[in-house]
Amino acid sequence: MQKLYGLIGYPVEHSMSPIMHNACFREFGMMHVYHAFNVHPDHLEKAIVGMKALGVAGFNVTIPHKINCMKYLDKIDELAMKIGAVNTVVNENGKLIGYNTDGLGFVKALKDEACETLTNKKILIIGAGGAARGIYMTLADSGVERIDIANRTIHRADEIISDCSDSVQSTSLSLQQAECALKNYDIIINTTSIGMYPHINEMPISLDHLGEKKIVCDIIYNPLETKFLKEAKKRGALIQNGLGMFVYQGALAFEKWQGKFPNIDDMKQIVLDKLGGKTC
Ligand code: ATR
Repeated sequence: MQKLYGLIGYPVEHSMSPIMHNACFREFGMMHVYHAFNVHPDHLEKAIVGMKALGVAGFNVTIPHKINCMKYLDKIDELAMKIGAVNTVVNENGKLIGYNTDGLGFVKALKDEACETLTNKKILIIGAGGAARGIYMTLADSGVERIDIANRTIHRADEIISDCSDSVQSTSLSLQQAECALKNYDIIINTTSIGMYPHINEMPISLDHLGEKKIVCDIIYNPLETKFLKEAKKRGALIQNGLGMFVYQGALAFEKWQGKFPNIDDMKQIVLDKLGGKTC
Protein backbone atom coordinates (compact mmCIF):
# COMPACT_ATOMS: atom_id res chain seq x y z
CA MET A 1 0.00 0.00 0.00
CA GLN A 2 1.28 3.46 -0.88
CA LYS A 3 1.94 5.57 2.22
CA LEU A 4 2.60 9.25 2.80
CA TYR A 5 5.63 10.52 4.76
CA GLY A 6 6.67 14.10 5.27
CA LEU A 7 8.59 16.90 6.84
CA ILE A 8 7.21 19.79 8.86
CA GLY A 9 9.29 22.93 9.33
CA TYR A 10 9.28 26.64 8.58
CA PRO A 11 10.65 27.33 6.06
CA VAL A 12 11.19 24.00 4.24
CA GLU A 13 11.43 25.08 0.61
CA HIS A 14 15.17 24.38 0.41
CA SER A 15 15.14 21.10 2.34
CA MET A 16 17.12 18.22 0.83
CA SER A 17 14.98 15.66 2.72
CA PRO A 18 12.25 15.06 0.07
CA ILE A 19 14.72 14.27 -2.70
CA MET A 20 16.76 12.04 -0.36
CA HIS A 21 13.81 10.06 1.08
CA ASN A 22 11.98 9.67 -2.22
CA ALA A 23 15.20 8.23 -3.68
CA CYS A 24 15.38 5.78 -0.74
CA PHE A 25 11.81 4.62 -1.42
CA ARG A 26 12.74 4.01 -5.05
CA GLU A 27 15.90 2.13 -3.96
CA PHE A 28 13.68 -0.40 -2.16
CA GLY A 29 11.01 -0.47 -4.91
CA MET A 30 8.48 1.25 -2.63
CA MET A 31 5.71 3.49 -3.97
CA HIS A 32 5.61 5.71 -0.86
CA VAL A 33 5.88 9.48 -1.15
CA TYR A 34 7.70 12.04 1.07
CA HIS A 35 6.51 15.63 0.95
CA ALA A 36 7.78 18.79 2.71
CA PHE A 37 5.03 20.78 4.47
CA ASN A 38 5.68 24.44 5.26
CA VAL A 39 3.96 24.76 8.67
CA HIS A 40 3.79 28.18 10.33
CA PRO A 41 4.39 27.94 14.12
CA ASP A 42 0.80 29.13 14.73
CA HIS A 43 -0.49 26.04 12.90
CA LEU A 44 1.77 23.40 14.45
CA GLU A 45 -0.86 21.71 16.61
CA LYS A 46 -3.42 21.58 13.78
CA ALA A 47 -0.78 20.22 11.40
CA ILE A 48 0.17 17.37 13.76
CA VAL A 49 -3.47 16.52 14.52
CA GLY A 50 -4.04 16.56 10.75
CA MET A 51 -1.08 14.23 10.14
CA LYS A 52 -2.68 11.76 12.53
CA ALA A 53 -6.17 12.14 11.11
CA LEU A 54 -4.91 11.59 7.58
CA GLY A 55 -2.93 8.53 8.62
CA VAL A 56 0.44 9.93 7.55
CA ALA A 57 2.82 7.03 8.25
CA GLY A 58 5.72 9.10 9.59
CA PHE A 59 7.33 12.50 9.39
CA ASN A 60 10.45 14.47 10.17
CA VAL A 61 10.41 17.67 12.17
CA THR A 62 12.82 20.51 11.57
CA ILE A 63 13.50 24.08 12.72
CA PRO A 64 11.63 25.69 14.47
CA HIS A 65 9.32 22.84 15.59
CA LYS A 66 11.73 20.26 17.09
CA ILE A 67 10.89 21.17 20.69
CA ASN A 68 7.32 22.46 20.41
CA CYS A 69 6.06 19.41 18.51
CA MET A 70 6.72 17.21 21.55
CA LYS A 71 3.59 18.24 23.43
CA TYR A 72 1.36 17.11 20.55
CA LEU A 73 2.81 13.58 20.28
CA ASP A 74 1.50 10.49 22.09
CA LYS A 75 4.88 9.21 23.30
CA ILE A 76 8.52 10.36 23.27
CA ASP A 77 11.35 7.84 23.30
CA GLU A 78 13.96 8.00 26.08
CA LEU A 79 16.85 9.52 24.09
CA ALA A 80 14.63 12.19 22.50
CA MET A 81 13.33 13.06 25.96
CA LYS A 82 16.88 13.40 27.29
CA ILE A 83 17.87 15.57 24.31
CA GLY A 84 14.67 17.59 24.67
CA ALA A 85 13.87 17.59 20.94
CA VAL A 86 12.25 15.37 18.30
CA ASN A 87 13.23 15.17 14.62
CA THR A 88 11.46 11.92 13.64
CA VAL A 89 7.89 10.76 14.26
CA VAL A 90 6.53 7.27 13.62
CA ASN A 91 2.79 6.62 13.35
CA GLU A 92 2.41 3.32 15.19
CA ASN A 93 -1.20 2.12 14.83
CA GLY A 94 -2.56 5.65 15.17
CA LYS A 95 -0.19 6.77 17.95
CA LEU A 96 2.52 9.31 17.13
CA ILE A 97 5.88 8.35 18.68
CA GLY A 98 8.73 10.90 18.73
CA TYR A 99 12.43 10.05 18.27
CA ASN A 100 15.65 11.98 17.78
CA THR A 101 18.16 10.73 15.17
CA ASP A 102 20.29 13.91 14.95
CA GLY A 103 22.87 13.04 17.63
CA LEU A 104 23.20 9.42 16.54
CA GLY A 105 23.44 10.64 12.94
CA PHE A 106 26.43 12.75 13.88
CA VAL A 107 28.14 9.98 15.87
CA LYS A 108 27.66 7.42 13.09
CA ALA A 109 29.10 9.84 10.53
CA LEU A 110 32.03 10.60 12.85
CA LYS A 111 32.83 6.90 13.30
CA ASP A 112 32.41 6.24 9.61
CA GLU A 113 34.47 9.14 8.29
CA ALA A 114 36.97 10.19 10.94
CA CYS A 115 37.25 8.18 14.15
CA GLU A 116 36.31 4.51 14.38
CA THR A 117 36.47 4.31 18.17
CA LEU A 118 35.53 7.07 20.58
CA THR A 119 36.80 5.36 23.72
CA ASN A 120 38.82 7.74 25.93
CA LYS A 121 38.51 10.64 23.49
CA LYS A 122 38.42 14.21 24.77
CA ILE A 123 35.86 16.27 22.92
CA LEU A 124 35.07 19.96 22.63
CA ILE A 125 31.62 20.99 21.38
CA ILE A 126 31.26 24.60 20.24
CA GLY A 127 27.69 25.86 20.63
CA ALA A 128 24.89 24.92 23.03
CA GLY A 129 21.74 24.92 20.88
CA GLY A 130 19.49 22.03 19.89
CA ALA A 131 22.09 20.37 17.66
CA ALA A 132 24.72 20.53 20.41
CA ARG A 133 22.28 18.93 22.87
CA GLY A 134 21.67 15.95 20.59
CA ILE A 135 25.36 15.43 19.91
CA TYR A 136 26.34 15.84 23.58
CA MET A 137 23.70 13.40 24.90
CA THR A 138 24.63 10.78 22.30
CA LEU A 139 28.40 11.13 22.75
CA ALA A 140 28.00 10.99 26.54
CA ASP A 141 26.83 7.41 26.08
CA SER A 142 29.63 6.30 23.77
CA GLY A 143 32.67 5.75 25.99
CA VAL A 144 34.37 9.14 25.57
CA GLU A 145 36.56 10.47 28.40
CA ARG A 146 35.25 14.02 28.53
CA ILE A 147 33.03 16.45 26.63
CA ASP A 148 33.40 20.17 27.26
CA ILE A 149 31.03 22.74 25.79
CA ALA A 150 32.08 26.24 24.74
CA ASN A 151 29.35 28.77 24.07
CA ARG A 152 28.85 32.52 23.75
CA THR A 153 26.12 32.22 26.40
CA ILE A 154 27.74 30.00 29.02
CA HIS A 155 24.60 29.16 31.02
CA ARG A 156 23.18 27.29 27.98
CA ALA A 157 26.26 25.02 28.07
CA ASP A 158 25.77 24.50 31.82
CA GLU A 159 22.15 23.52 31.24
CA ILE A 160 23.09 20.77 28.78
CA ILE A 161 25.70 19.38 31.18
CA SER A 162 23.32 19.37 34.14
CA ASP A 163 20.49 17.79 32.07
CA CYS A 164 22.67 14.79 31.22
CA SER A 165 22.35 11.81 33.53
CA ASP A 166 25.42 9.98 32.13
CA SER A 167 28.56 10.34 34.22
CA VAL A 168 30.85 11.91 31.64
CA GLN A 169 33.38 14.53 32.74
CA SER A 170 32.35 17.96 31.44
CA THR A 171 32.83 21.63 31.95
CA SER A 172 31.53 24.75 30.25
CA LEU A 173 33.89 27.29 28.68
CA SER A 174 33.72 30.71 27.09
CA LEU A 175 34.68 30.84 23.41
CA GLN A 176 37.92 32.62 24.38
CA GLN A 177 38.80 29.93 26.93
CA ALA A 178 38.16 27.28 24.29
CA GLU A 179 40.51 28.97 21.82
CA CYS A 180 43.35 28.74 24.36
CA ALA A 181 42.56 25.16 25.40
CA LEU A 182 42.32 23.55 21.95
CA LYS A 183 45.41 21.39 22.45
CA ASN A 184 43.58 19.47 25.23
CA TYR A 185 41.05 17.90 22.84
CA ASP A 186 41.15 15.07 20.30
CA ILE A 187 37.93 16.07 18.54
CA ILE A 188 36.52 19.59 18.09
CA ILE A 189 32.95 20.01 16.78
CA ASN A 190 31.31 23.23 15.60
CA THR A 191 27.53 23.03 16.11
CA THR A 192 26.83 26.74 15.68
CA SER A 193 25.58 28.23 12.43
CA ILE A 194 28.70 30.39 12.12
CA GLY A 195 30.25 29.88 8.68
CA MET A 196 27.02 28.72 7.02
CA TYR A 197 26.14 30.11 3.60
CA PRO A 198 25.97 33.09 2.97
CA HIS A 199 28.27 34.05 5.93
CA ILE A 200 31.08 31.92 4.62
CA ASN A 201 33.97 34.04 5.93
CA GLU A 202 33.12 33.63 9.62
CA MET A 203 34.54 31.18 12.17
CA PRO A 204 33.16 30.27 15.63
CA ILE A 205 36.62 30.39 17.25
CA SER A 206 40.19 30.92 16.11
CA LEU A 207 42.23 27.76 15.50
CA ASP A 208 45.62 29.40 16.14
CA HIS A 209 46.31 27.05 19.06
CA LEU A 210 45.18 23.85 17.34
CA GLY A 211 47.63 21.04 18.06
CA GLU A 212 48.70 18.25 15.74
CA LYS A 213 46.61 15.26 14.62
CA LYS A 214 43.24 16.64 15.66
CA ILE A 215 39.83 15.80 14.24
CA VAL A 216 37.80 18.92 13.45
CA CYS A 217 34.10 18.65 12.53
CA ASP A 218 31.49 21.10 11.40
CA ILE A 219 27.81 20.15 11.24
CA ILE A 220 27.31 22.66 8.40
CA TYR A 221 27.13 21.13 4.90
CA ASN A 222 26.61 24.27 2.86
CA PRO A 223 29.36 25.14 2.15
CA LEU A 224 30.81 21.63 2.27
CA GLU A 225 34.07 23.10 3.55
CA THR A 226 33.48 25.99 5.94
CA LYS A 227 36.24 28.47 6.72
CA PHE A 228 36.59 26.64 10.05
CA LEU A 229 37.29 23.34 8.25
CA LYS A 230 39.61 25.02 5.72
CA GLU A 231 41.69 26.51 8.54
CA ALA A 232 41.75 23.17 10.37
CA LYS A 233 42.91 21.37 7.21
CA LYS A 234 45.72 23.93 6.77
CA ARG A 235 46.86 23.00 10.28
CA GLY A 236 46.95 19.30 9.42
CA ALA A 237 43.66 18.22 11.02
CA LEU A 238 41.42 15.47 9.71
CA ILE A 239 38.18 17.25 8.84
CA GLN A 240 34.54 16.17 8.67
CA ASN A 241 31.68 18.25 7.27
CA GLY A 242 27.95 18.08 8.07
CA LEU A 243 26.87 16.05 5.06
CA GLY A 244 27.39 12.71 6.81
CA MET A 245 25.31 13.78 9.81
CA PHE A 246 22.48 15.00 7.59
CA VAL A 247 22.43 11.80 5.57
CA TYR A 248 22.71 9.49 8.60
CA GLN A 249 19.92 11.25 10.54
CA GLY A 250 17.75 10.71 7.45
CA ALA A 251 18.81 7.08 7.07
CA LEU A 252 18.07 6.41 10.76
CA ALA A 253 14.61 7.99 10.36
CA PHE A 254 14.02 5.84 7.26
CA GLU A 255 15.02 2.77 9.26
CA LYS A 256 12.49 3.66 11.99
CA TRP A 257 9.75 3.89 9.37
CA GLN A 258 10.68 0.94 7.14
CA GLY A 259 12.91 -1.34 9.22
CA LYS A 260 15.52 -1.13 6.44
CA PHE A 261 18.75 0.88 6.30
CA PRO A 262 19.32 2.70 2.99
CA ASN A 263 22.61 3.03 1.10
CA ILE A 264 24.50 5.94 2.69
CA ASP A 265 26.84 6.56 -0.26
CA ASP A 266 23.93 6.83 -2.70
CA MET A 267 22.14 9.23 -0.33
CA LYS A 268 25.24 11.42 -0.03
CA GLN A 269 25.61 11.52 -3.80
CA ILE A 270 21.97 12.59 -4.24
CA VAL A 271 22.44 15.49 -1.80
CA LEU A 272 25.77 16.46 -3.36
CA ASP A 273 24.22 16.51 -6.85
CA LYS A 274 21.36 18.62 -5.54
CA LEU A 275 23.66 21.07 -3.74
CA GLY A 276 25.54 21.39 -7.03
CA GLY A 277 26.41 25.00 -7.77
CA LYS A 278 25.11 26.28 -4.44
CA THR A 279 28.13 25.18 -2.43
CA CYS A 280 31.18 27.40 -2.26
P1 ATR B 1 20.29 24.78 16.70
O1 ATR B 1 19.04 24.26 17.32
O2 ATR B 1 20.32 24.64 15.20
O3 ATR B 1 21.54 24.25 17.33
P2 ATR B 1 20.19 27.28 18.18
O4 ATR B 1 19.45 26.61 19.28
O5 ATR B 1 19.70 28.59 17.71
O6 ATR B 1 20.25 26.37 16.88
O7 ATR B 1 21.74 27.38 18.61
C1 ATR B 1 22.67 28.07 17.86
C2 ATR B 1 24.05 28.05 18.54
O8 ATR B 1 24.92 28.86 17.77
C3 ATR B 1 24.08 28.59 19.95
O9 ATR B 1 25.09 27.95 20.67
C4 ATR B 1 24.44 30.07 19.71
O10 ATR B 1 25.05 30.70 20.81
P3 ATR B 1 24.14 31.37 22.00
O11 ATR B 1 23.66 30.22 22.83
O12 ATR B 1 25.08 32.27 22.72
O13 ATR B 1 23.04 32.10 21.29
C5 ATR B 1 25.45 29.90 18.61
N1 ATR B 1 25.60 31.13 17.82
C6 ATR B 1 24.81 31.53 16.79
N2 ATR B 1 25.27 32.70 16.28
C7 ATR B 1 26.38 33.03 17.00
C8 ATR B 1 27.32 34.10 16.94
N3 ATR B 1 27.22 35.07 16.02
N4 ATR B 1 28.36 34.10 17.81
C9 ATR B 1 28.50 33.11 18.73
N5 ATR B 1 27.63 32.07 18.83
C10 ATR B 1 26.59 32.02 17.98
